[in-house]
Amino acid sequence: MRSRYPRSAMLRFTTRPFRPSDAELYVHLAADAFSIVPSWQRPKDSVEFVAHMHSAANPAGLAIVAIAEQEGREVGHFSAIPARLRTHSGALAIGWQLSCFAIARDLQRQGVGTGLVGSLLDEVAKTPRDFVYVYPNPRSLGVFLRHGGRYLDDAPAWIVFPRPLASRTGIESLNAAAALRAIEEIPEVETAPGNFLKDRAFFRWRFLGPDADRRTRFARVRRAGTEFVLVLASHRASGIEFTVLVDVYPDILRTHYGLVLAAARAAGGGRPVYLTTNLGGRVDARGAPWRVCVPQRFDPRPVGTMIMPRTEVADGELARSQVITGDWMSF
Ligand SMILES: CC(C)(COP(=O)(O)OP(=O)(O)OC[C@H]1O[C@@H](n2cnc3c(N)ncnc32)[C@H](O)[C@@H]1OP(=O)(O)O)[C@@H](O)C(=O)NCCC(=O)NCCS
Repeated sequence: MRSRYPRSAMLRFTTRPFRPSDAELYVHLAADAFSIVPSWQRPKDSVEFVAHMHSAANPAGLAIVAIAEQEGREVGHFSAIPARLRTHSGALAIGWQLSCFAIARDLQRQGVGTGLVGSLLDEVAKTPRDFVYVYPNPRSLGVFLRHGGRYLDDAPAWIVFPRPLASRTGIESLNAAAALRAIEEIPEVETAPGNFLKDRAFFRWRFLGPDADRRTRFARVRRAGTEFVLVLASHRASGIEFTVLVDVYPDILRTHYGLVLAAARAAGGGRPVYLTTNLGGRVDARGAPWRVCVPQRFDPRPVGTMIMPRTEVADGELARSQVITGDWMSF
């Protein structure tokens, strides 16, 4: 039987704060690691974007990385990117999202990923009021289950029906520079307890860094006395062009769900809208266009919130935290 642990005694794991050169390593490893998966599932991250995502431009702080080395060759990369969770007591807790997994093709399924996650868990466990979480995909799931990861919630995919002639009244398309100006003008909305903070600083870092215009597009919406900025992307599946609702600034999805979905469809030219969220069915959806929840067996990228063990943070703090497409980092 194949061993669960690294075959080679020469394998070494190092965990440390992110350094800019780690971004090059990840992009290089990902090009090799992901060559086994279909092209639409491969990450298209640039070195500059990866460096930005792990940098101190994140209002929650610098990421940590775990690197596997074998005889002087770096063969595996996992990272943990911090985010600020507003707990039910109002205090902030830092959640570390496991991201950027790539193992050299010739060493996959030999325990390297499992070892790297173990190193990151050891590091975060030094601060027990922090926690580690992840939105696994089917290939990486086994690695997290092996460490005792537990699903707390599901965020299914939703498809909003198309309406080619949807009115664009109150909608202005923006590039990233204009979106940056818009979020400076539009006031923040306070994040509800039990959710990750989505303030202006978060949006600036997460969606308006390098490559923003290549990865996403933006729309400023003024409708029903409310003003917001949509982060949108495009995705083609089964010959159909979808508008992807990535996120919205300020943090109004919970309170204005119907309005945001309708605006995303109109801003995307009336095409069907794809989003993953755990809010559908939980919030007031007045004004929302017709939509369907994709059954899990047809869901191309099932998303669930998984918490990893070794933390003082109670499950209830994270269990119903809002998830929207951009949270699992592919867009
Ligand atoms: C996914 C990945 C990070 C896991 O690291 P790893 O070192 O190969 O994993 P380990 O050897 O520690 O654990 C292996 C387990 O991971 C899972 N796994 C790894 N590759 C898998 C694949 N292609 N399909 C399904 N499950 C897979 C399985 O649960 C596997 O257990 P098994 O071998 O007993 O079936 C690595 O295989 C990789 O880089 N794959 C290509 C890129 C990728 O898919 N990244 C994750 C998505 S963002």
